[in-house]
Amino acid sequence: MKIEENKPLDDLNTFGLKVGAQYFVEVNSVQDFVDLMQTEIYKTNEKLILGGGSNILFTNCVNGLVVKNSIKGISVVSDTDTEVIVKANAGEAWHEFVLWCIERNYAGIENLSLIPGLVGAAPMQNIGAYGVEIKDVFQELEAIDIDSGETVKFNLNDCEFGYRESVFKNKYKGKFFIASVTFKLTKLSSPKAIYKFKTDYGDIKNTLSEMRAYELSIKAVSDAVIKIRNSKLPNPKELGNAGSFFKNPTISKEKFEELVSKFPVMPSYPQKNGSIKIPAGWLIEQCGWKGKVVGNTGSHKSQALVLVNYGNATGKEIWSLALEIQKSVKEKFGIEIMPEVNVV
Ligand code: EPU
Repeated sequence: MKIEENKPLDDLNTFGLKVGAQYFVEVNSVQDFVDLMQTEIYKTNEKLILGGGSNILFTNCVNGLVVKNSIKGISVVSDTDTEVIVKANAGEAWHEFVLWCIERNYAGIENLSLIPGLVGAAPMQNIGAYGVEIKDVFQELEAIDIDSGETVKFNLNDCEFGYRESVFKNKYKGKFFIASVTFKLTKLSSPKAIYKFKTDYGDIKNTLSEMRAYELSIKAVSDAVIKIRNSKLPNPKELGNAGSFFKNPTISKEKFEELVSKFPVMPSYPQKNGSIKIPAGWLIEQCGWKGKVVGNTGSHKSQALVLVNYGNATGKEIWSLALEIQKSVKEKFGIEIMPEVNVV
């Protein structure tokens, strides 16, 4: 384990921003992290834990120590006739983990195919897509308190998962280093397993029939999700981005009724608590931002919610576009859209 100084983070953030860290270290095991905690640099600097860098906007170089989690390994902890408990270390790439499960016919996360980032970052914001969230299959996680070094286990309730939310984005922000995450999945190879594929969201059913996948399997659902994502979301390796920049806002029923009388085609998703979720992508598109290029940045042509770096953008430039978009949505609809990415 080597602590580097003035480390470029250009390849370590999917926006592809040219930024650096005062100190940088890559951690390959829990022991590495324990050893790191003994160093002067660790003790005397602010820490930023980095996963795949796929949900972060650097508006400045980082003063302090960036710790990149690269702890690898996936193992089966236990199983029954119908279920399997799988532990993935935090430094595994999320999509590689999904593929590992698909190969073994372990169902539950196929709808979450192709999400960039690492396993350890998945519970931070309760990643979700196409009708599934990580909380649906979450068993527990192990994390290390970055001040005391104590290992703490978090179960489903402890994580306080919400839509793109968890304790790790709120009261425990910056306080824990997530080491591993454990999931409860369904063993589809077992004749006794009962499992309902989730194909109701958006274009999944249409895509499956376009692909002539008449027999449902987790591989077919995963392939359909991959096809949809590839058609809408820019590949960060080709065009810097961090997926959805904003969260989809929820509004009250009264506010919704007022708006829908003015904008009758406004898409909406009623929530269990009576509030209404509105796709931020639609709001942004209505304000004229979709496909618009502003300097080195802009809102993507196929999905307005994704802000992109056309090559030489700075984090400040992307952030100032985000603020302008936020302001125009507020002016037109009276709705405040909030960033989903972590702005540092
Ligand atoms: N829409 C537009 N214009 C746009 C984009 C979207 O009008 O430019 C409207 C359409 O009505 C569309 C609806 O928004 O039907 C929903 O769009 P989409 O299915 O693309 O989903 P989203 O709500 O924009 C969310 C997640 C994505 C996830 C998809 C699929 C958030 C913030 N984003 O996007 O997650 O992949 O659903 O489940 O919840 C991410 O978090 O980085 C991410 C990509």
